[in-house]
Amino acid sequence: MVRNLARRGDCIHSPIGTYYFNRPDAITHVLQTHADCFVKQHTPYDQMMGALGPGVLTLDGKDWDLSRHRLQSHFTANTIEQSLSRAIPCLMAHLTSQTNEPFDLKPVLHNMVTEAMLHILCDFTSPGLTHSAIEAISLSNLEISRFAPWHRPINKRKKLQKALKTLNKEILENIDKFSSKGLLGPIIEGYQQQQIPTENFLGEMKNFLIAGAETTTSTLAWVIYSITAQPEIWAKISDEIRNNPNPRTWCSPQSPYTQMCIQEAMRLYPSIWTILRRSIKKSTFANITIAKDNFIILSPFTLHRHPAFWTNPEQFDPEHFTPNQKQQRPKGVYIPFGIGKRICIGKQLAMAIMKCILFEWISRYDLSQPDIQHPGMSPLVTLQPKRPIMIRAKALN
Ligand code: HEM
Repeated sequence: MVRNLARRGDCIHSPIGTYYFNRPDAITHVLQTHADCFVKQHTPYDQMMGALGPGVLTLDGKDWDLSRHRLQSHFTANTIEQSLSRAIPCLMAHLTSQTNEPFDLKPVLHNMVTEAMLHILCDFTSPGLTHSAIEAISLSNLEISRFAPWHRPINKRKKLQKALKTLNKEILENIDKFSSKGLLGPIIEGYQQQQIPTENFLGEMKNFLIAGAETTTSTLAWVIYSITAQPEIWAKISDEIRNNPNPRTWCSPQSPYTQMCIQEAMRLYPSIWTILRRSIKKSTFANITIAKDNFIILSPFTLHRHPAFWTNPEQFDPEHFTPNQKQQRPKGVYIPFGIGKRICIGKQLAMAIMKCILFEWISRYDLSQPDIQHPGMSPLVTLQPKRPIMIRAKALN
């Protein structure tokens, strides 16, 4: 759908009160400079609020402010590195469990990332908790798709309701074992000291699991698909990783080519492929006036493939992210993590997890695809590979 809109122009206004923008000045206006004129309420995000409950992802206004500020200062490079290093043994167990036989990449990554995410967020995991989180995350992604089932009330989706209930139960049964050392420490402590009500605590846990695990898993699947599809790119990235003298500092700027490959995968396959808002006040930019109560569609997917800003936009080419190319690009053209006050709170964490998995895996294994075929794209809440990506992992001697 967004591809069809992009073919029609960069600014489309329909009389039923919907705007679609595919231009950087509109992106910075809506998400950054005039962000207070726009909210998530009364958009398909309501579906998420209904399913997940209140949290940083789903709230607006003062409640969002409180929720975001409670955690923002905790998401530092230092706490991310410490939390991630505690998750490494669990990642390693998944990475080394693969045999020489080709395997379907996505489910392996999903297990790995979800379990790592639980370690990172609350410093605890168990088979029951991991299993229920994976079930709830997958069903949410499928059922809360942005446009298609918007009209269908969330409480009519029995399977999803059941999975979310089981996840709530697993979280509450294990809460005594969660530790404030995890990234959600302030929320865990707040709940344990009875300063945060159960509904809000469960809401935050689910907001973070859904926002973090599914996005990171699908992005990593696209990165691995892309780097193993082109031998010269695989040669460069594996060379950089295997010759890295200081591999375990995930948040520091290092391994420029690996970083460029991740950035390029997020350009072609932005996990959050649409960003939606509703205007609550009139605002103006570049002679365009957005009246109150319009529905706004912004799409990282179409923006990242806009021929005015990218050479060979449909091709996977990490050179799009050389320092020189980055400098020449206008602000608001590349937004895989959003921009403005609602920019992804887990941006640094997501980059660190992806680098960590790529490093731990590629430094020990040669990854390849037995049969290279584009898997196609499935635009659920996140942009998923449509068909399995089959990978072979051969241990290095
Ligand atoms: C590659 C991985 C990821 C991508 C592409 C991604 C992308 C995004 C985007 C585009 C937004 C903004 C949405 C909007 O403005 O409507 C967002 C928000 C958010 N993300 Fe991420 N994300 C990723 C990983 C993570 C991780 C690892 C976490 C946490 C563990 C996380 C937690 C959140 C939360 C809580 C929000 C809502 C922030 C707010 O509204 O204040 N994300 N993400």
